[in-house]
Amino acid sequence: MEVTVKSVKAADLKCDAAVFCVFDDKKMSKILEDFDHHSMISALLRTKEFKGDFKDIDHIHLHQNIKKLILISLGKKVDFNANKLREIAVAATRYAKGMKLTSFHFIYEGYDKITDEEAGQVLAEGFILGEYKFDKYLAKKPDDTELSNVIINVLQGSQKSVENGAKTAEIVTDHMIFVKDLINEPPSRKGPEVIAERAIALCKKNKVKINVWDKKKIEKEGMEGVIGVNAGSVKEPRFLVVEYNNAPGNPIVLIGKGIVFDSGGLQLKPWNYMLDMKDDMSGAATVVGAINLMAALNMKVNVVGLAPVTENLTGGNAYKPGDVLKTYNGKTIEIGHTDAEGRVVLADALGYSRNFKPKAIIDMATLTGAIVVALGYEFAGLFSNDDKLRRALLEAGKHTDEQLWHMPLIPKHTEMIKGKLGDVKNVGSTEGAASSSTAAAFLQEFVPEKTPWAHLDIAATAFIKEPNGVSGEGATGYGIRLLVEFMKRYCN
Ligand code: BES
Ligand code: ZN
Ligand code: ZN
Repeated sequence: MEVTVKSVKAADLKCDAAVFCVFDDKKMSKILEDFDHHSMISALLRTKEFKGDFKDIDHIHLHQNIKKLILISLGKKVDFNANKLREIAVAATRYAKGMKLTSFHFIYEGYDKITDEEAGQVLAEGFILGEYKFDKYLAKKPDDTELSNVIINVLQGSQKSVENGAKTAEIVTDHMIFVKDLINEPPSRKGPEVIAERAIALCKKNKVKINVWDKKKIEKEGMEGVIGVNAGSVKEPRFLVVEYNNAPGNPIVLIGKGIVFDSGGLQLKPWNYMLDMKDDMSGAATVVGAINLMAALNMKVNVVGLAPVTENLTGGNAYKPGDVLKTYNGKTIEIGHTDAEGRVVLADALGYSRNFKPKAIIDMATLTGAIVVALGYEFAGLFSNDDKLRRALLEAGKHTDEQLWHMPLIPKHTEMIKGKLGDVKNVGSTEGAASSSTAAAFLQEFVPEKTPWAHLDIAATAFIKEPNGVSGEGATGYGIRLLVEFMKRYCN
């Protein structure tokens, strides 16, 4: 899919389809009015199907230079913003795909509260993400006609600025698609080695430094958490260390959970809970993708990414409830449940982060089923020991439409994970009381002292069954734009 930006006068426009926007007052712009021969557009705007609600969409056949005219409503003017515009672009793209169009023009007349550059960016992001599909293993593609080109036709405002925005969007979506593809990839086709190879290829492209540790090195470093979780798998683990240093000062360390497939281990998941567990490496993919995006955008930041990558399976050597594992920083973990594996591998990564003397640490993990229950698919859970860090993340999430909700983390939660055989236990109560919070409390035990830290539980937002306003079903790419926006705010 290619997005191009042009400035062709409305009267000279020749195309299969053009998308025009109206607000809920259904007022036509001067340009749109000029196409209202025989009052066909006015008639459409009067139908009861086209109420003018956000994303109401319909079309008429003009049989003129523009063959089909698509109308979409931006909804209420007071509510309209850049995130809504991205959704409009996605909706228009899906509609055009439904019409089997191979290209369309989007008529750009500028928006009051959105700069041309930002509008160009969110529009192009929407067109590209709206077109995204993961169909590489289908011999017969469901889309026989491919929507291959969207033209933003700038009739008001700066073509150059819109173009700059669209260029940024191309870089952003390239990285989002890298992450989405990796998460959508079937579990047996993305063992730790494959994930490492893909990460290396991307880092090479963006000139980002990456070190990949094999099992021997992980053992030597004393990361029994990673080794323990990996023990039930025939595929050896990897530990990724990604570094992009383009600014003075201590780095922000980003940590991602990289469970390639989570069967639950010996305490096996019920069949229906296991179905989408290929997505359990979303945190790792997001961290690698986001850091590469920062490099591709030439951001002036200093950032390190850490990702333990392994399967959680049931092989003959699998770790067991009752096991005690010694992690990188010397603390021991008593295994209460083999399905609470994410925090066990993250413990090693958090411990290791101290070597970078981080200014702050953010981990991203599909960590608990309870966060899905608590927050649904619109919010990731945010746990933090630092107000400033939390605020910057919340604001970044609002800005990019990747929302976070502040969750409780109190000393009681830490009490609940105290171990008997080991320093900490990887589950709170077996009934699962506050289990997203006890998971966070567990992670907190491994955060280097006096270091601002935030944990994002993305179990619900990383992978969805029903399309939402921006993402189709499957991997959403949640968190990539959020991390980039966060870095802009926190590091400047
Ligand atoms: N990977 C899962 C959490 C998950 C659930 C991710 C749903 C995506 C969607 C995690 O490893 C897990 O199994 N957590 C358990 C922990 C429990 C055993 C304490 C959970 O939340 O049920
Ligand atoms: Zn699990
Ligand atoms: Zn898991």
